[in-house]
Amino acid sequence: MRVLGIESSCDETGVAVYDSERGLLAHCLYSQVAMHAEYGGVVPELASRDHVRKLLPLLTECLDQASVEVTDINGVAFTSGPGLIGALLVGAATGRALAFALDCPAIAVHHMEGHLLAPMLEPDPPEFPFVALLVSGGHTMLVEVRALGEYQILGETLDDAAGEAFDKTAKLLGLGYPGGPALAKLAEQGDPDRFRFPRPMTDRPGLDFSFSGLKTHTRNLWLNIKTNEAAKAESVKADIAAGFQKAVTETLTIKCKRAMRETRANTLVVAGGVGANLSLRENLLQAGHQNDWKVSFPRLEFCTDNGAMIAFAGCQRLLAGQSEPLNIAARARWPLNELQGI
Ligand code: KG4
Ligand code: ZN
Repeated sequence: MRVLGIESSCDETGVAVYDSERGLLAHCLYSQVAMHAEYGGVVPELASRDHVRKLLPLLTECLDQASVEVTDINGVAFTSGPGLIGALLVGAATGRALAFALDCPAIAVHHMEGHLLAPMLEPDPPEFPFVALLVSGGHTMLVEVRALGEYQILGETLDDAAGEAFDKTAKLLGLGYPGGPALAKLAEQGDPDRFRFPRPMTDRPGLDFSFSGLKTHTRNLWLNIKTNEAAKAESVKADIAAGFQKAVTETLTIKCKRAMRETRANTLVVAGGVGANLSLRENLLQAGHQNDWKVSFPRLEFCTDNGAMIAFAGCQRLLAGQSEPLNIAARARWPLNELQGI
């Protein structure tokens, strides 16, 4: 089966062609980052309009790269939620209409299921069952994955997502948007142990997270330094970035170790934008090595939003015979545990 995947849940337009026999044939991505940077964050209406502008040319480009005709497509997968409703509607309407025109099935994909399955696009893919750490701009959760669609949420953030905390802290430090990668880059030059940062919710049992206190702690620290040591402010930025990153990384690692122990799983899958953070990858690989579990990540470009993960996830569901009716499905909110198995 040859599936066209469309991702448009936030500020990236992604298209990919995945073939169940031959694997990923092509994927193309257009990022709206430059447009939103001017506003310091994603402007939903601008995002929707840009998806409208970019999706069809990207689709043509992707089919060209895959060397397939549109009529060679026999399934269409689109991100149906969660995300920005206007942005989702662009991909959902295009995907559904295209499937109708081609007289082939369409499937509405859960964005987080896409992230969760992304490591399966790599050589040596993880096998079910596993525990997944999903860390993106909108979500932070630990999920026990027994099979496709069989997800039990073990813990999740009570407030900010890890990526959101990175972005807000980066903004505070004047690093612009999107903050995660910029903060990570600055952290490379800093001393992570110069300032003390909390490891939130690690001193009590459970697998939930909370990052808003850490963000506030960082803000107070920064404001204090800015007022009292104005001259040194620039030089300590990197130390704050490094200390913050280490706190997030260690907190996530502690919770992953706990989840692995409790479930007795032997594979940890890490996915979502923050999964591109090299310090987190290093920490989790080390924990895996010490505790004898496998750690599986997507390649860096498939940690953040992309069409390939949607084409792959959709293909698995289409192969199992699932498909959508003719209405256009888009949901801004869509709890992961509402998904059905195959
Ligand atoms: O998965 P994603 O592309 O979009 C959502 O579904 O949210 O994740 C984007 C998030 C942003 O918060 C971004 O700052 C963060 O992932 N991110 C990073 C890194 N690369 C992206 N955070 C920390 N370090 C990175 N290298
Ligand atoms: Zn995402």
